[in-house]
Amino acid sequence: MAQAQARPGEPAATIVPEPARKGIALKVNGESFVHVGDPAMPLLWYLRDVLRLTGTKYGGDRSGVDLVLVEGKAVSAQSLPMSALAGKRVRTVEGLTGEAGALHPLQQAFIDEDAIGCGYCTGGWLIAAVELLARNAHPTDEDIDRLPVLCRCGCHTRVRRAIKRVAGAHA
Ligand code: FES
Repeated sequence: MAQAQARPGEPAATIVPEPARKGIALKVNGESFVHVGDPAMPLLWYLRDVLRLTGTKYGGDRSGVDLVLVEGKAVSAQSLPMSALAGKRVRTVEGLTGEAGALHPLQQAFIDEDAIGCGYCTGGWLIAAVELLARNAHPTDEDIDRLPVLCRCGCHTRVRRAIKRVAGAHA
């Protein structure tokens, strides 16, 4: 058992080491990782501070800027603890690009439709749209408006067009 350094005149304090953590194994964008830190750490901090994947943003409740895909479902990375991710596959906005950095069709459509203002919400839209198109190949404007992402730059109309452009291409 390790002992803390005591100041002169003070009794030596005993440090009880934490039991070794087994680690939480997960895949992020196809790569395997083991998180050995605090199991309560939100996924968002793990992505941004440990893996340096900063495309997923911090936002207020239901802003949608922190969306990632976990097993194909769009979820809030800031409200998901690492303990919930053992054995799971996570895909972030960085993981949408293909071989040699080829843009995902949605990324290209957002560029083509000028659907990016400041860009803070863009990753959230892209993740939400990937999930939407996986379950609904022909979304309506109302389907798109129900996506849980807020754009404070007012890009909603152009976001609709970008998502429908990809849906149309797959028709
Ligand atoms: Fe700025 Fe959406 S592009 S918040």
